[in-house]
Amino acid sequence: MQVKASAPGKAILFGEHAVVYGKPAIAMAISKRSCVEVLESSTSNINVNIKDLGIKGCIDFNSGAIISDSPKKGILKYILESIKKVHDGSGIDIGIDVNIPIGGGLGSSAAVTVATIAAVSAYNEIDLKEEEIAKYAHEVELAVQKSASPLDTTISTYGGLIYLETNAEDIVQLDIDYDIPVVIGYTDTRGDTGKLVESVRIRRDVYPDIINPVIDSIELITEEAKQAILENDKKRIGELMNINHGLLDALGVNTKELSSMVYTARNAGACGSKITGAGGGGSIIAYCPGGTGNVISAINETENALNAD
Ligand code: MEV
Repeated sequence: MQVKASAPGKAILFGEHAVVYGKPAIAMAISKRSCVEVLESSTSNINVNIKDLGIKGCIDFNSGAIISDSPKKGILKYILESIKKVHDGSGIDIGIDVNIPIGGGLGSSAAVTVATIAAVSAYNEIDLKEEEIAKYAHEVELAVQKSASPLDTTISTYGGLIYLETNAEDIVQLDIDYDIPVVIGYTDTRGDTGKLVESVRIRRDVYPDIINPVIDSIELITEEAKQAILENDKKRIGELMNINHGLLDALGVNTKELSSMVYTARNAGACGSKITGAGGGGSIIAYCPGGTGNVISAINETENALNAD
């Protein structure tokens, strides 16, 4: 039997990092998807081949050992934890195309995790509901990263445009009848989500009276942005993005490269722009209701200039 599943990456419009402290966030699925294929193996091993990254590995299901000589084998931990949820350990071959930049703030690990759980459970004829896939996938991210909100795995499971309140029972899909024109610019530097989340936690522990109000302000921005998106109030969406970016800088997850790209996008006509995802490298998102062309060209030019430095 051969089974295939895919899941999308994501871009966070508002509320990253604050969401780790139970605050709401707004995220959208992107068109890039991770694809996972599961086949019965001719051996008793669990073999993983991440084709687009050139990573091959073998997973010992019982000991949890990952055998691979690839320097980028960290992603195999997500596969191991995902398989543990829905597999009995028999030999399978898993083929993966991640298709989303790793550490780029675009939810590659969540997409691979969700698609792996979906494909391996279908291979084993386990009928999982979406909420079960989302729950398992969040548990996998927690096991690997130690600290993770359910945001990335939720958006990767359900798709669409989501306002996530971690304490609420239901996922709120923001039902809009227009497209949100955004440009994603990604840097060559990878961000390590686990470490960045930890660095914000340390900053909050050291300066609780300063950082807690920053996190509370991001919550207010996200709530106001939800209304602005529902009303398609472009000016307000853009301004709120810019304020959110400033607060992410205050949390310490900005970099010179990200900042430069954020301002390049604004100077080229973006209505608003900010870091998207964990920061520390990774990506920015620019909101461009006036057209995306100038912003794409300007980011490409700046990237070339930065690389030439
Ligand atoms: C990472 O895509 C988003 C963060 O808020 C971490 C998380 O939600 O787990 C930075």
